[in-house]
Amino acid sequence: MAYADGVSLNGRSVGMELPTPDFYSYEWAPIASVEVDGRFATLRWADGLELVAFDWWLRENAVDAGGVDLATREMLLDPADHDDATAFGSVEVTGDGSLRIRWSPDDALAEYHPGWLRHVADRQHLASSWIPEPVAWTATELREPPTHDGSKILDGDPDGALGTWVLDMLRYGIARLRGCPTEMDTNRLVTERIGAPRDTNFGIIWDVKADVTMAGVADTNSTANTNLRLGPHTDLPTRETPPGFQFLHCVVNETEGGLSTMADGHAVVDALRTAHPEHYDALTTLNWVFFNRGPGIDHRWSGPMIDLGVEGSPLTLRAFYPVRGFPDMDPADMPRAYEAMRVFSRLAASDEFQMRYPFEPGDIVGFDNRRILHGRDAFTSGGARHLRGVYIDHDEVRSFARVHARTSVVGSGTHH
Ligand SMILES: [Fe+2]
Repeated sequence: MAYADGVSLNGRSVGMELPTPDFYSYEWAPIASVEVDGRFATLRWADGLELVAFDWWLRENAVDAGGVDLATREMLLDPADHDDATAFGSVEVTGDGSLRIRWSPDDALAEYHPGWLRHVADRQHLASSWIPEPVAWTATELREPPTHDGSKILDGDPDGALGTWVLDMLRYGIARLRGCPTEMDTNRLVTERIGAPRDTNFGIIWDVKADVTMAGVADTNSTANTNLRLGPHTDLPTRETPPGFQFLHCVVNETEGGLSTMADGHAVVDALRTAHPEHYDALTTLNWVFFNRGPGIDHRWSGPMIDLGVEGSPLTLRAFYPVRGFPDMDPADMPRAYEAMRVFSRLAASDEFQMRYPFEPGDIVGFDNRRILHGRDAFTSGGARHLRGVYIDHDEVRSFARVHARTSVVGSGTHH
């Protein structure tokens, strides 16, 4: 707040904060002027920023005046009940810079926090706000995952490693905690501090075990549990929404070789679009059926390999040849679809894009399963390697990141 304690303006003593439609605290940002034109009120701040606000939107955001319930901070107005007669009565900027509206016809008086209105003008209300912008990288630009000290992560986390790790994960699509405990439960205990896990047919916490003294593994449900190379891929493209983030915790590693490989989907897709626009077009528009077949399960989804979703969606790559069942397209499109997929897969597997690094016991590598193409080189020596995995959807990770980033900047922000 911009006021000293004890100052009183317009009869409202400061310290008694004007309620907003949520539970966050906003810095006071006095409005300079308001101008009404029909159903819109244009608010202006002294630095020239404007917000064009629609009457019904302001009406439904009137806190404690029929719009937003003061106790729950949720909206009360069912759109079916919107009254055609709803209109601005008087609209004014108060002496301390808030917006005051007397509504017609019910005569309700609403006062709007100028900091809350300002955050809308600043576009901090969008799904993308408070989340780091993705930074695309090649293997020359990022040689190993950005790394944070995880040794105190379950011991009060005095350095705040959890937050900086997650923000790096959103920025680069991959980030590593090093020096974590190597207990069987460590990954679950660390990741549950970010958000709810995403359960799948692998279970909430699952094992990737390679014992390369064995000549092949007979009893396994995945190529991951063998000593073979695993090409660049994303997990579970067989789902309408594949798991957002994947966390791999190394419990034991006595092997050589078997390096983890990671390529940034943003960089690979950008390169494909620039060098081979026709292949980019094929991979963003032609669908494939992905198919998990197993006793008691039948998961399927059809989508393009490069799934751009609606505007603002995170990138989703559907790239896992072991579970790519069928082309779901006109036969005339199949030759270009297969050719485009080959070019994309070679690009993703090239040294230009492939980061390679070994797992050490105590590492937790978190990566965006829909953006990053992950894989593994073949093992070159014997020994056991045991990873434990957890998935968490984008929603959970992004919520955690917003709260973390917002609290770091705004300080007193509390979360609903
Ligand atoms: Fe995988």
